[in-house]
Formats: sequence, C-alpha cells, structure tokens
Amino acid sequence: MSGKAFQLEKVSRAFGAVEVLRELSLTIARGEFVAVVGPSGCGKTTLLNLLSGYDQPSSGVIQRDGEVRMVYQQDGLFPWLTVAENIALGLRHLKDEAERTRQTNELLRLIRLESFDQHYPHQLSGGMRQRVELARALAGASDILLLDEPFSAVDYLTRLRLRQELARLLAERPRTVALVTHDIEEAAQLADRVIVLSERPARIQYELSIAAPRPRDLTHPEVVSAIHRILTELGIEHDYEKAVGNL
Ligand SMILES: Nc1ncnc2c1ncn2[C@@H]1O[C@H](COP(=O)(O)OP(=O)(O)O)[C@@H](O)[C@H]1O
Ligand SMILES: [Mg+2]
Repeated sequence: MSGKAFQLEKVSRAFGAVEVLRELSLTIARGEFVAVVGPSGCGKTTLLNLLSGYDQPSSGVIQRDGEVRMVYQQDGLFPWLTVAENIALGLRHLKDEAERTRQTNELLRLIRLESFDQHYPHQLSGGMRQRVELARALAGASDILLLDEPFSAVDYLTRLRLRQELARLLAERPRTVALVTHDIEEAAQLADRVIVLSERPARIQYELSIAAPRPRDLTHPEVVSAIHRILTELGIEHDYEKAVGNL
C-alpha cells in the first residue's frame, strides 16, 4: 500500500437482485485527485460509501490507508450552530482551546467568510454554506476527502467559484481526493484523473489522466480536450472544433 490511499480489487456491490458495481479495480495514489463521473443511478455514491468504509462490498477487496472525511451534496451543517462553531466541530481533536480558535479563524480566512463567523447557516447563501462545509472537512485531521456532488445544489456561477476555491484550499492543504460529480467540466478542471463509470452495473468504462498545471482555467487546451474526449467516450454529440474555435 505504500504511496497508495486506496486499492480496490474486483470490487462488486449488489443490493438484493440489483447489481450496482461489477468488479471494479482501481488504485488511488496518496495525494491524487480522482474524479468519478457517470450516469445518474450508476453507483457513484455506492462507490464512495465503500471507499469510506460506511458500506462493505459484496465481493472483492478494498484496502485503504488514511483517515476519511466525507462531504455530501445536501446541507450537512448544524443549523443551531454558528459558522465558527460548525467549523470548530471539525477541530474537536485539538485539546487547546486557543489553538482551536486560531485554526477556526485561519479556515474562515481561507474560505473568505471572516465576517460571517457568528452567522447561522440559514443566514448564508447555498454557496457560502458549501464553503463552510469544505472548511469543516479540511479542518479535520483526515488525509482523504470524499466529495459526493458537493456543488450540485448551487447555481452555475457559484459552482465555478467553489471549484476555484476547492483548488486553492487543496493547494494550501494537500489531500487525497475522490470527487463524485455528474459535471464533466468540473471533473476535467479539478482532477489528476477522471474515471468514467458505465451504466449500472457500473464498470470503469474509461479513464483519463490530465496533466495540465494548476490553477487550471476551464479554457485551458488540455481541459477542453479532456472534456471533448470524455463526451466522445460517452457518445454525446458535440462540436469540438467549434468549441476550440470559440476560445
Ligand atoms: N442501500 C441501498 N439499498 C438498495 N438499493 C440501493 C442502496 N443504495 C443504492 N441503491 C441502488 O443502487 C443504485 C446506485 O445508486 P447510487 O450509488 O446512489 O447512484 P449514483 O450516486 O450514481 O446516482 C441505484 O439503483 C440505487 O437505487
Ligand atoms: Mg449519488
């Protein structure tokens, strides 16, 4: 397992007669950012639940090296706690209160919500809440982040900003990341490697490494070319020449 965060060998998961994942073999390196895309209902969340250890495979072997933190698509903040208190929850492992406060403030600065520390979740926009969620996840000592469509509930512009925010946060605090998304742009802009799952029962249909330097612009030629290749692989018609011509 040296240098690896995950190693999956022929992992399958079925719920009764419903076969969801079929013989998935996959290695994720420590510090690597892997995005998983695929049709709705194909088994992406099931895969994350297996990676987190929350669920067990029906057959096959999963090895994991590191502590896992999961961020869900829905609101995971505690509505009765302030922004600062929600973030501090992720710092429970620190015994020294002054240190906890210092790190909470540092995270508030990272997500640029310093002046919202005493606000409650319902007083924030959806995008702001997702930033708090990310800060709380990064606050933990865990070295692996599992993100299940973390930006799908916010509008397009907010999503673009949150993407940049995540990339920036990870540059400051590197982690191993597995991001589930149905957004191919998001996958291509953020990930070192994109894994495309097939329809259920999901298998790895296609895999693509993206070496473009960071921070990455959505219009970086390698990102555009990755989007093109994934769309092609998924059989979705599009005009690559026109898209490139428009840049
Ligand atoms: N605990 C469960 N019990 C029964 N069926 C489940 C359970 N979890 C997921 N499924 C089924 O597995 C399939 C894949 O679900 P999911 O992993 O949530 O898909 P995705 O996240 O790709 O949209 C769906 O058909 C879903 O109904
Ligand atoms: Mg899902």
